[in-house]
Amino acid sequence: MRTDAEKILLTEKEISDKVKELGQAISSDYENEELLIVGILKGAFIFMSDLVRSINCQVEFDFMAVSSYGLSSKSTGVVRIMKDLEQNIENRHVILVEDIVDTGLTLKYLLENLRTRKPASLKICTLLDKPERREVQINLDYCGFQIPDEFVVGYGLDYAEKYRNLKDILVLRPEVYNK
Ligand code: IMP
Ligand code: MG
Repeated sequence: MRTDAEKILLTEKEISDKVKELGQAISSDYENEELLIVGILKGAFIFMSDLVRSINCQVEFDFMAVSSYGLSSKSTGVVRIMKDLEQNIENRHVILVEDIVDTGLTLKYLLENLRTRKPASLKICTLLDKPERREVQINLDYCGFQIPDEFVVGYGLDYAEKYRNLKDILVLRPEVYNK
């Protein structure tokens, strides 16, 4: 599996140090508050599970699953909700957890949708940010790493549903996704 990688972008240690920092920042911002952490499936599941173990406030969890319409690999901004929240978020403090923000179109849609449900607050925590590819402006409240415009896998991120279980974040060799 590792031979499909061009290089390691972020090691397991670099990731875990950063995830702890993010957890501490969230813990101090939400001291004495109750939080609802919403993971965006599937990419965020590993990041979220590590992140929440560094958060020491009262936390509940929920998940959403989304998929982009169309077969094109280019994001269109039209998003379909495959799994919606189970909880009512009205008057609750919500943090959306994402693996990576690329064009920003998925998050823009989700934010607009969730704001109509009147949360007390709504913030974003993403592990990775590819700012070069952004098409819409989005404020990332908590962000682990800004990375260059390269396709990465591991630590929850996939190519064609594979590589999510890698401990490091790797850049895939283009031959792997062009074959
Ligand atoms: P956006 O709507 O373009 O911001 O799409 C973000 C989504 O695209 C992420 O949640 C990922 O599922 C996927 N994505 C974007 N870049 C990568 C990458 O480098 N590796 C794996 N998935 C990616
Ligand atoms: Mg995703």
